[in-house]
Amino acid sequence: MTNNTQNSSQTHTNQSWGGRFSEPTDEFVKIFGASVFFDKILAPYDIAGSRAHATMLQEVGLLTEDEKDQILTGLDQILEEINTGKFEWSVALEDVHMNIESRLTQLIGNAGKKLHTGRSRNDQVATDIRLYLRDQVDDILVEINRLQQALLDLAEKEASTILPGFTHLQAAQPVSFGHHMMAYFEMLTRDGERLVDCRKRMNSMPLGSAALAGTTYPINRERTAELLSFDRICLNSLDGVSDRDFAIEFLSAASMIMMHLSRFSEELILWSSAQFNFIELPDSFCTGSSIMPQKKNPDVPELVRGKTGRVYGNLTSMLTIMKSQPLAYNKDNQEDKEPLFDTVDTLKACLRVFADMVPTIETRRDTMYNSTKKGYTTATDLADYLVNKGLAFRDAHEVVGKSVSYGIEHQKDLAELSLEELQLFDDRIENDVFDILSLEGSLCARDHLGATSPNQVKYAIKTARKNLI
Ligand code: ARG
Repeated sequence: MTNNTQNSSQTHTNQSWGGRFSEPTDEFVKIFGASVFFDKILAPYDIAGSRAHATMLQEVGLLTEDEKDQILTGLDQILEEINTGKFEWSVALEDVHMNIESRLTQLIGNAGKKLHTGRSRNDQVATDIRLYLRDQVDDILVEINRLQQALLDLAEKEASTILPGFTHLQAAQPVSFGHHMMAYFEMLTRDGERLVDCRKRMNSMPLGSAALAGTTYPINRERTAELLSFDRICLNSLDGVSDRDFAIEFLSAASMIMMHLSRFSEELILWSSAQFNFIELPDSFCTGSSIMPQKKNPDVPELVRGKTGRVYGNLTSMLTIMKSQPLAYNKDNQEDKEPLFDTVDTLKACLRVFADMVPTIETRRDTMYNSTKKGYTTATDLADYLVNKGLAFRDAHEVVGKSVSYGIEHQKDLAELSLEELQLFDDRIENDVFDILSLEGSLCARDHLGATSPNQVKYAIKTARKNLI
């Protein structure tokens, strides 16, 4: 628990709230209650928040120009110390906020003690995580975009590549590999939209809510919000300090992204098996087995599939942390950070590895083609053909069912049956049937918006490229 964080409780006592206490905090409770082990990554956001707060305090006359300047210079030095690993983190000071404030007072004396005027750690931490998450959402959107670009390139290359489209994991109809990739592109578009949407509600500033009821000082919250590029301020102080909806929304959007990546992973794992052999993942994204020399394991998609579990878990944690919490701030909320940080790190890593891996996917076009030929995947085309010749669809379905059964018995695909054989089932069948029974014919016939013909896939890619910024 104490790794990277020096427990210098001997040299620091917590003077921020120690006034009414006559007994020191139990040694283990100090460690148990501290969040500095993990919340120190909020330091740059905590400092940004403090800079804006100090600037506003000076503008409304609560700090002198000189005090504000000392605070800003001190905060700059602290950021520098943190960035260069020189900052001495103290567990006795509990969290990132009190570590920074205490160091500031050590550096600049009295002016440092004035920084917390009109502020509480409750609105401070609520502000910090919003600033942090806002930045992370922006980074994640960049990774989603990179993965989408990779999908577009692969889809373009494979627009005319045919593989069996499945329902119930049974070969159903021929589809374009590019079309299949574009399905994931669509999912990621919605994922990006969800993040952009949740960022809007995240971008509201709690600072000024103070502990829970606001403050007696004449603060200018709009000004602080402007300095921190928040779109608006939280309009109820009780809600401002205790709201974690934005975190739950983010975790929910993150879970959805992981769910999409896990579906993609599952397909890549199946397709790269010897039994499917539809694709090959490069050695650089796979590992071997220490006992079975023949093995090449798709570790990357397997790990992404596995990591989906922890992100779902983090969403459940956060929902449960918030469940039944009375207003306003409760220490329970300190537990919001690890699920959030872990989700951000996991999500960024998974998106990054996918964006790097997708361009390296090699398709086995022949295997996919032959596999599509095996599954009577053009049966629906034959039924549609008969409907065009005047048969009712249900009757056509029956005729084709019998043809398929004949094909299975004689080990022939529909396209391999002779005209005479096909006419055994319906004499309306003519020579032109072979155009629609071919895989290419079947694929190209689905030629409307959103369908799988290579023309439509190329059109979808062109449109997507235009819309993707
Ligand atoms: N470390 C605390 C957290 O993460 C900061 C807020 C503490 N507030 C308090 N009233 N003890 O939630």
